[in-house]
Amino acid sequence: MTISKPDSRIEGLLLVACHSLLVTCFFLAFAQPVRANTCLGECHADIAKVADRHAPVAEDCLSCHRQTAGNHPAAKGNEFSLAAAGPALCFKCHDPLPQGKQHAPVAEGKCTACHDPHGGSGRALLATSGAPQNQREVCFRCHPRERFSKPFPHGPVAMGACTVCHDPHASANPALLRKSGRKICLGCHADFAQGLRKAAFVHSAVKEKECTTCHEPHGGDKPALLKEDMRELCFGCHQDIKELVERGKSRHEPISGEGSCGSCHLVHYGDHPNLLFKEEKALCLQCHGGGNGAPPAGGRDIEKEISGKKYLHGPLAEGKCTPCHDPHASRFASLLKGEYPGTFYAGYREGLYDFCFGCHDKNLLKEGSTATGFRDGTRNLHALHVVRDVKGRTCMACHAPHASDSAKLITKEGVPFGSWRVPLRFEKTDTGGSCAPGCHRKMEYKRK
Ligand code: HEC
Ligand code: HEC
Ligand code: HEC
Ligand code: HEC
Ligand code: HEC
Ligand code: HEC
Ligand code: HEC
Ligand code: HEC
Ligand code: HEC
Ligand code: HEC
Ligand code: HEC
Ligand code: HEC
Ligand code: HEC
Repeated sequence: MTISKPDSRIEGLLLVACHSLLVTCFFLAFAQPVRANTCLGECHADIAKVADRHAPVAEDCLSCHRQTAGNHPAAKGNEFSLAAAGPALCFKCHDPLPQGKQHAPVAEGKCTACHDPHGGSGRALLATSGAPQNQREVCFRCHPRERFSKPFPHGPVAMGACTVCHDPHASANPALLRKSGRKICLGCHADFAQGLRKAAFVHSAVKEKECTTCHEPHGGDKPALLKEDMRELCFGCHQDIKELVERGKSRHEPISGEGSCGSCHLVHYGDHPNLLFKEEKALCLQCHGGGNGAPPAGGRDIEKEISGKKYLHGPLAEGKCTPCHDPHASRFASLLKGEYPGTFYAGYREGLYDFCFGCHDKNLLKEGSTATGFRDGTRNLHALHVVRDVKGRTCMACHAPHASDSAKLITKEGVPFGSWRVPLRFEKTDTGGSCAPGCHRKMEYKRK
């Protein structure tokens, strides 16, 4: 804001004053301007003490005050009026404030609700406390302090630097913000802005919505200025996942844990698809392997199950777990993406193996079908073992779900059967194979 230079100030003042009051006119015309020093001595020591004085105060009290009677200071009465009322006084020397959407007290002309006309303890005629940018006490005259004193305050708010974000007078942006939307945030969070520009993947919510969709700009009751606990925040938009987690038969434990969605996802942007903070397999094995020294989640070391194995189940060979497991929750056991019995025996019914048949040919269980290599002539040995009303063998009786050193993912170590592991002793030939399992004597099958 520029200051207009009132060269003919005294003349102007005289004119105005003469008009209003003859006595004052006389006084002013024949007396010297009331130099500040005259008044600041013993009488107005409070003004003299002001740390950062308003320029005209140091020069001439009468640039703002008019003496309405001649007996001050002798009578010590209130014999002064202001040279102009309200903001008009200020605008005698200052350019008018920008129009547009003004802050309520500005629109009402209450300049002195914030500014002390004589000076302040910091710059801009404001009462500050501590650091010069700590102007919050001024704001707290009208805005309740409690709202800005939450357990997790935002740095600049705790510093009282309200006006780094807000223009105290007027702004074209909502909430008197100095810049619109995220620009205000990214102005300070420069490393974030840089990361955002470089990242391969940006969360739509961050790209398309304001930062304040998720964050309290001033501070809040949650860490990281979050409006709600992370999980609830995410569920707010990801309803499908919320429903699955709430209603599913199996739910992935980390989601309800402390890290919640952040155990696997970056929130703003990242270099891996789905905002994962590392490659999928490495991510899963971080908790489901013994690599990091900690015991694996659930006690089962999947890393050990697969590492160094000759045959990896298709998706695993491509570094994927999620074609089979939903990382969040599932309507089925073990976070599987389809129905699958988690037991050694199960009475057969339609749909029981939907999980496997999401990817494999359903006909491999069909009597007389040649869709399977596990047959003796045309006798389907898959059907023989699996399709039984009672004690049908489930796939896990013979196949390992993740990896094996035997061809066709036949389990080598054997399948847990109570406290025992049932060895299969499978041998594959060009036209068939043989098994000598714990279940029966060695038997051979030949497709031709
Ligand atoms: C830039 C204009 C301006 C100048 C210059 C100025 N004043 Fe004031 N003064 C005001 C205004 C405006 C008020 C009314 C404050 C209010 O209503 O909150 C005021 C109020 C006062 C008051 C009464 C209320 C109080 O704060 O105690 C005194 C006394 C006073 N001024 C003395 C002085 C003296 C002495 C000088 C010169 C050293 C001076 N003023 C210079 C604008 C000015
Ligand atoms: C007689 C002329 C005059 C009047 C009337 C006047 N000011 Fe000033 N004001 C000045 C001058 C001169 C400066 C110093 C400008 C500079 O340093 O660039 C100043 C500076 C300021 C500053 C900046 C101080 C700082 O530390 O940065 C503020 C804020 C201010 N005035 C507010 C007001 C308000 C509010 C009013 C009305 C109550 C008012 N002024 C009335 C002349 C005036
Ligand atoms: C709600 C409080 C508030 C009100 C009301 C207010 N101001 Fe200010 N004003 C401030 C703050 C805070 C600053 C310092 C801004 C900063 O730190 O950048 C300021 C700065 C100024 C400045 C210094 C130049 C500048 O823009 O930085 C002038 C001049 C000024 N105000 C004049 C006025 C006038 C004239 C009015 C009345 C029409 C007024 N103010 C009303 C809070 C207020
Ligand atoms: C004299 C009282 C007063 C002071 C002092 C004051 N405000 Fe306000 N402020 C108001 C009022 C009244 C409103 C309008 C409230 C409403 O609309 O609910 C308001 C509204 C606001 C808004 C919202 C504007 C919008 O358009 O949504 C912001 C931001 C704001 N003030 C910031 C500040 C800051 C920062 C300070 C300190 C520099 C401050 N206020 C000091 C009275 C004040
Ligand atoms: C880091 C930037 C930033 C700082 C610092 C900041 N604010 Fe805000 N403020 C905002 C944003 C952004 C909004 C808009 C909130 C929204 O859209 O939900 C806002 C809104 C407001 C509002 C109006 C809406 C509401 O929540 O009532 C007021 C009043 C307000 N701020 C006062 C203050 C005061 C007082 C301070 C200092 C104690 C302050 N602000 C410091 C960014 C900030
Ligand atoms: C004036 C500079 C400034 C602006 C503007 C600013 N911030 Fe900050 N922000 C900081 C500082 C300083 C910290 C504290 C950094 C630290 O502790 O490492 C911080 C911390 C944060 C934190 C982390 C808090 C925590 O407890 O971990 C979040 C989240 C945040 N800011 C979001 C925002 C958002 C959203 C906006 C825009 C509304 C914004 N910031 C605007 C300076 C700013
Ligand atoms: C979809 C909700 C959401 C949006 C939108 C969002 N954030 Fe966050 N932000 C979070 C969550 C959740 C955390 C906590 C992350 C954690 O604890 O791992 C966080 C943490 C932060 C942190 C502190 C930790 C860090 O990563 O440095 C900063 C700073 C931050 N956000 C700034 C921003 C800024 C700036 C924007 C806007 C460009 C923004 N956020 C938009 C949800 C969001
Ligand atoms: C304001 C709404 C909103 C919030 C809150 C939100 N998201 Fe999103 N998120 C979206 C939208 C929109 C998409 C775009 C994908 C879509 O169309 O479903 C998305 C996509 C994603 C994606 C897929 C990213 C990709 O590259 O395809 C992940 C992962 C994600 N969000 C995680 C989270 C997490 C974790 C949280 C909580 C911190 C969260 N979201 C909060 C709206 C939101
Ligand atoms: C254990 C790790 C893990 C946790 C915890 C996790 N996710 Fe995911 N999320 C993933 C993986 C891996 C993918 C990609 C594979 C896929 O799409 O199934 C993914 C994909 C997504 C997607 C995009 C695909 C889709 O399903 O819409 C969204 C959105 C998402 N997650 C949100 C969330 C939210 C919200 C939370 C917290 C409630 C959360 N995630 C917790 C691992 C996790
Ligand atoms: C942050 C650690 C963590 C990460 C990362 C993680 N998990 Fe888990 N997972 C767990 C914990 C803890 C359990 C619960 C173990 C238990 O039941 O004792 C669990 C359980 C499981 C279960 C069994 C669920 C049930 O209902 O029995 C499966 C399957 C699973 N995780 C797969 C995955 C997949 C796939 C990934 C990668 C997308 C993954 N996990 C990433 C910690 C993790
Ligand atoms: C081709 C499908 C498939 C892929 C890919 C796959 N799994 Fe599995 N997983 C299964 C099946 C089927 C089961 C249930 C049978 C069992 O427990 O042996 C299972 C069981 C589990 C269990 C034990 C669940 C429980 O209830 O205790 C964990 C943990 C697990 N998998 C983690 C992973 C991880 C980590 C990956 C990726 C590195 C992965 N899985 C990849 C099919 C798969
Ligand atoms: C997400 C898809 C998917 C699911 C679900 C799945 N598989 Fe697989 N499976 C594959 C792929 C891909 C291969 C490797 C390609 C091939 O040889 O057919 C494979 C290979 C196999 C093999 C070895 C075949 C060979 O010729 O070497 C067996 C055995 C097998 N799966 C059994 C199962 C069983 C049992 C289930 C259910 C528990 C199952 N699969 C679920 C995708 C899947
Ligand atoms: C009694 C042991 C046993 C059971 C139970 C079993 N399989 Fe097999 N499966 C085999 C053998 C042995 C082969 C290898 C056949 C060959 O190529 O010689 C095989 C091969 C496969 C193949 C490769 C393609 C084919 O059919 O040749 C798939 C896929 C497969 N099984 C899926 C399943 C599914 C799904 C289940 C559960 C519904 C299941 N198996 C149950 C023993 C079994």
